[in-house]
Amino acid sequence: MCGVIGAVSHEQVGQLLVDGLQRLEYRGYDSAGVVTVSEKGLARLREVGKVRALNQSMQKSPLFGQCGLAHTRWATHGKPTQTNAHPHVSRDSVAVVHNGIIDNCDAIREELLADGYVFASETDTEVIAHAFHQAYGETKDAILALRQTCDRLHGTYAFGLVLRDEPGKLWAACHGSPLVVGIGDQAHYIASDMVALASLTSRYIYLEDGDSVVMTQDHLQIFNKRNQPVTRELHELSLSVGQTSKGEYRHHMLKEIHEQPEVIKNTLAGRLTQEDVLASLFPEEAMTMLEGIDRVQIVACGTSYNAGMVASYWFESIAGIPCQVEIASEYRYRHHVVKDNALFLTISQSGETADTIAALKHAQMFGYQATVTVCNAANSALARLSDYVLLTQAGVEIGVASTKAFTTQLTVLLLLVLGMGQQRQCEGLNVIKQGLALLPESVEKLLDLASQIEPIAQWLSHYQHALYLGRHTCYPIAQEGALKLKEISYIHAEAYPAGELKHGPLALVDENMPIIILAPNDGMIDKLLANVQEVAARGGHLVVLTDAPERFAKSQNTRIIPMPAIMPALVPLLYTVPLQLLAYDVATVLGTDVDQPRNLAKSVTVE
Ligand code: M6R
Repeated sequence: MCGVIGAVSHEQVGQLLVDGLQRLEYRGYDSAGVVTVSEKGLARLREVGKVRALNQSMQKSPLFGQCGLAHTRWATHGKPTQTNAHPHVSRDSVAVVHNGIIDNCDAIREELLADGYVFASETDTEVIAHAFHQAYGETKDAILALRQTCDRLHGTYAFGLVLRDEPGKLWAACHGSPLVVGIGDQAHYIASDMVALASLTSRYIYLEDGDSVVMTQDHLQIFNKRNQPVTRELHELSLSVGQTSKGEYRHHMLKEIHEQPEVIKNTLAGRLTQEDVLASLFPEEAMTMLEGIDRVQIVACGTSYNAGMVASYWFESIAGIPCQVEIASEYRYRHHVVKDNALFLTISQSGETADTIAALKHAQMFGYQATVTVCNAANSALARLSDYVLLTQAGVEIGVASTKAFTTQLTVLLLLVLGMGQQRQCEGLNVIKQGLALLPESVEKLLDLASQIEPIAQWLSHYQHALYLGRHTCYPIAQEGALKLKEISYIHAEAYPAGELKHGPLALVDENMPIIILAPNDGMIDKLLANVQEVAARGGHLVVLTDAPERFAKSQNTRIIPMPAIMPALVPLLYTVPLQLLAYDVATVLGTDVDQPRNLAKSVTVE
């Protein structure tokens, strides 16, 4: 979603800000803009489309100033036009960039219109610029005006603000949307995520909800929501350029698919012990709490929800713990009956997904024993709001379509299930642990399937629709495969538990409906063979992922992706990889924007 970057420095900041926006492109956006402030006043450029268009404008008419803000906009209020692009300006003297949604913007707009303010855009952000202008005019104190402005806003925001009359100062505030402050050499920065500041600093402060900040190139002052000066912890984190670049790969997504053996290994490191797995995951005091857990409620969105679905099968079949899973945007708006000793578990790559955060806050009213988040961002809102954090070690994931974040989520979830299974003295855990230890190698070998998947992708790219079928843990993996295909190739794809085929979807099956079937050679393969026959009898074309190819009749309508034999618990982790490659290859054949698919954003920070 929207990306924010700001800088106040001893050097010119215009190009530095646009370069920062390029690093934020992965979040998804439809327009971009930049403003600088100097003795000559505010200077602004805005363009619809890619940051490179803004960059070209900068080359033609460079912006001068040692202080400024820049923004990538993902449209919510008003179409993606130049006038709706940020920064928004009030009376040539205040400029604002904003990430989030101001829920009461209509009411504030009415009040400001009545007070004579003229609106140039349809955005909610413009009310922040005018409201601040009004408060500053009355108080003549920017910090107080900032607090009064924030108190007037309902909703979520992380915004940066500069003033024509104070060219060496930058202000910012946040509530419900993340904002990080970067400490540089005679420079300070703000950004909606630290990736934007990757080449500028390795020293960061994560602002807390309700904080506001004022900074010059040498000084930084943070205030809490009661406007009291506060200090926040300084973090040293080096984010190498290699972590955020594509390296030798054509797309970030392909690089991230290939990084999976390594990041799974990192996620397992030090955690897969013969003794107590939980002791490597949680602090001491959590052990007794986890011992008393009788049921688990998982809540997440998108790919993270699919990981939760797989985990629910694992919790019940491996650890004998009842488990429910729900989409966060559903969970957050309904009443719940929560029995004693229930654990609330969120899953999120970014840790900033608005619906998942709201679901966690909602859950806190229902008396869960504890809250745990499986997350890839140690300082995210979800990590801060949860009692315990289980970090995945996926590294920065830039491709909008989640790949390595998903397989590392599965890895952490399986560790949790094994740990809780150990506490309950369940059987069969050691065999799974042994398989898990070899998982990085198994995934590495699977990447060799690429050459067999390419021709299948060529063929699949000619279709408009596809069905994915699986049973048990392969059902959520079918969902994940379908999600990947639709996200990046724009081919309509749906997943069903294979047994549901004749309860409706079979009506769609003909020679124009390719079916991708996940068929590991387990207790369900005979059932899947029956499904295959139902499809074949109606002229449907099949792609079968299986370690028992001999069970499937050779025909020109059946394409096989050969899988290695693997124990059932690890099937979901392995069967994911060829589906990622298949979606990626189809998208590259079709020439879509693989890393930044249309309309989508990496972190969905608004509802
Ligand atoms: O950051 P999160 O894991 O909370 O994000 C949830 C979804 O928005 C995300 O998984 C989305 O579905 C991805 N684009 C899937 O590839």
